[in-house]
Amino acid sequence: MSRSPRTPRITDAAEERPVLVVDLGGQYSQLIARRVREARVYSELVSYRASVDEIRRHNPSALILSGGPASVYSDGAPRMDPAVFEQGIPTLGICYGAQLLALELGGRVEPTGAGEYGKVDMRVDGGRLFTALPAEQTAWMSHRDTVVAPPEGAAVVATSEHTPVAAFEHHDKRWYGVQFHPEVVHTPHGQDVLKNFLYEIAGAEPDWTPATVIEEQVARIRAQVGSERVLCALSGGVDSAVAALLVHKAIGSQLTCVFVDHGLLRKGEAEQVVETFGGHFHVPLVHVQAQQRFLGRLAGVTEPEQKRKLIGEEFIRVFEEEARKLGTDSQEPIRWLVQGTLYSDVIESGGTDGVAETIKSHHNVGGLPDDMEMKLVEPLRLLFKDEVRRVGEELGMPERMVWRQPFPGPGLAIRIIGDVTEERLETLREADAILQEEVRKAGLYRSLWQSFCVLPAIRSVGVQGDSRTYGYPIAIRAVTSEDAMTADWARLPYDLVETVSSRIINEIPAVNRVVLDVTSKPPATIEWE
Ligand code: XMP
Repeated sequence: MSRSPRTPRITDAAEERPVLVVDLGGQYSQLIARRVREARVYSELVSYRASVDEIRRHNPSALILSGGPASVYSDGAPRMDPAVFEQGIPTLGICYGAQLLALELGGRVEPTGAGEYGKVDMRVDGGRLFTALPAEQTAWMSHRDTVVAPPEGAAVVATSEHTPVAAFEHHDKRWYGVQFHPEVVHTPHGQDVLKNFLYEIAGAEPDWTPATVIEEQVARIRAQVGSERVLCALSGGVDSAVAALLVHKAIGSQLTCVFVDHGLLRKGEAEQVVETFGGHFHVPLVHVQAQQRFLGRLAGVTEPEQKRKLIGEEFIRVFEEEARKLGTDSQEPIRWLVQGTLYSDVIESGGTDGVAETIKSHHNVGGLPDDMEMKLVEPLRLLFKDEVRRVGEELGMPERMVWRQPFPGPGLAIRIIGDVTEERLETLREADAILQEEVRKAGLYRSLWQSFCVLPAIRSVGVQGDSRTYGYPIAIRAVTSEDAMTADWARLPYDLVETVSSRIINEIPAVNRVVLDVTSKPPATIEWE
């Protein structure tokens, strides 16, 4: 993947000399890019297929070649144009990347039999990569092949019991290789090794900070939209909120936000959006109270995918109506739409070119019109999720909004198992508020990927006072996860579970039973629908 030549590159301080992380198929490529950014140096991912010209066009301050699952000798193993290594660009190969460097530049790579996996004791012998670091270190390895001779003229600067060349350096050629993974936390000095490479060897400056991101994006947005009007759909989630604030900072009241309140948010969330954007930041905001419309559409619907589809469609309808009204009112069509696309979306969809694109028929925005001829403003396109949060903090967004756990677009509708009614929504909203409050009080909110309540629309028997009750159960779902692809059920402290349970039972008359979901993903999913 590469930046398309037709896309004008907007150069600015932190981004004009990126560190390019060359993705050789390793599971840690994105993590390497994030580690570089944690060292406050801007980085981008590119494919190993990038030509010398493409790489030069990026004007990189350094290259980092990722690991990868292949053996350098296997058929179809990713290879790079060796001319890339002759450009004088400081290059660090990691694991497979180091083997590739060695192989292309006159060294030797061989299988080491069983390979080496996990934590390994490593002995360091000089080396700029290890400046000011201890001679004995632990490093995390995961490889079958290993470099047995470094590139011609390179020095071996670290070894382990089974890895004769755990690190090599060739200063004149600016080639560096490490067999271990500096990007994982199991290599305690890994980040220091990366910093040595970035600062001492490549001369990169640690100037990629939330403040510079904001400055750069503001300039970019202004250049992009000029004096035209811009529209943004707010969902209550962190991405659309940060995107909107960035655009507002850049162009002020040229931006109008539309907040479609579908009535499926959690307690206090809609009010918070209105208060934060309209009240605090003075962003021109249209608050569409569409709760009854959504409830009407959802009446009697129990099938989860049907709920999602209806909510998506209705969202588009309401948003379109508002956009049309806004355009008509001002006699000036709105040509730009803000979208909270993140860098991980860009990488996953395999394209990194283009600051602006016309909306195509398929997109993953929580329901935006297909046939609206609008161009996109995507101020988060270069950012990972954690960076979005830091930018949000820097922009002064409330902590609660910045650190909100992921929340599905269809909201509480897919947490009521059965059809959605006002009464059930109200019950679930109250129960969820109690859980959130207690989880926060216990200091666990940020360490959980998600924590929420589910209301299965069944009734069970209970006894309260002297009489039998038929009430709803509430299920508590709390998970830890890295990326929602897999998740583990969170071991919430029993006293927390007890407090939540008794508060829900005592405070919400419609509920007479609380259960705890103790299933991981897989086999279960995080949501119940
Ligand atoms: P599952 O339930 O599939 O969820 O394990 C994985 C992640 O995706 C979220 N999720 C959704 N997000 N629209 C969304 O915007 C949806 O329809 C939807 N369904 C699930 C879920 O909350 C979890 O973070």
